[in-house]
Amino acid sequence: MRRLDQLLANLGYCSRSEARDFLKKHLVTVRGATVRDPSGKVLAADVLIDGEPLDHPDGLLLVLNKPLGLVCSHDEREGPRVYDLLPERWRARNPQVTSIGRLDKDTSGLILLTDRTELVHQYTSPKHKVPKLYRATVDADLTPELIPLFAAGTLVMDGETSPCAPAELRLINTQPRTAELVLTEGKYHQVRRMFAAVGVTVLTLHRVQFGRLTLGDLGSGAFREVGMVEI
Ligand code: URA
Repeated sequence: MRRLDQLLANLGYCSRSEARDFLKKHLVTVRGATVRDPSGKVLAADVLIDGEPLDHPDGLLLVLNKPLGLVCSHDEREGPRVYDLLPERWRARNPQVTSIGRLDKDTSGLILLTDRTELVHQYTSPKHKVPKLYRATVDADLTPELIPLFAAGTLVMDGETSPCAPAELRLINTQPRTAELVLTEGKYHQVRRMFAAVGVTVLTLHRVQFGRLTLGDLGSGAFREVGMVEI
């Protein structure tokens, strides 16, 4: 049971101090009875607002096809944010919706967003080792010698003291400047820096897959809800 004003504020309907006003403007019922007192304790599943159940009272988990040019940071000074693509009520939730790991401003593709903080910890923890598949285009022809080099778990990137975990590099015969790379960790700018460590510059980078999750037919900037079982 939670205080109704707290619940409404957590789910982004209004601030706690606005809850009384919100109850005047909207028909809020708990098990069918109209509520005007925001301080009463309620079960989220019992609450209807203007006849509608609450908006995702158990949390959000979304997969977004991140467009280029947006940042995963919440800091507006870093540029337009992925969160700006979400409905206003979701942006007002507390805990706030945040990305599970990050993609650079110049990287597009699959990013998970959630307000469930335990999921952020779970999927960004080095222990979890979720495989992430990236597609990169680069400035030089890639050669098969790179495959064992990336797989060896000995490649040390500039500025690091420990090597990268083994990574699977897949080359595409007909396109020597395109590759797929599967990482199980998420060091800062890891794909770009791994290629830089072998003298190759990444020109474009797109994340295709996170665990078993793919973008399907999600267009750039579009998102959908996912169930935990899908990852
Ligand atoms: N590696 C990068 O270099 N950038 C990303 O956004 C993700 C992985």
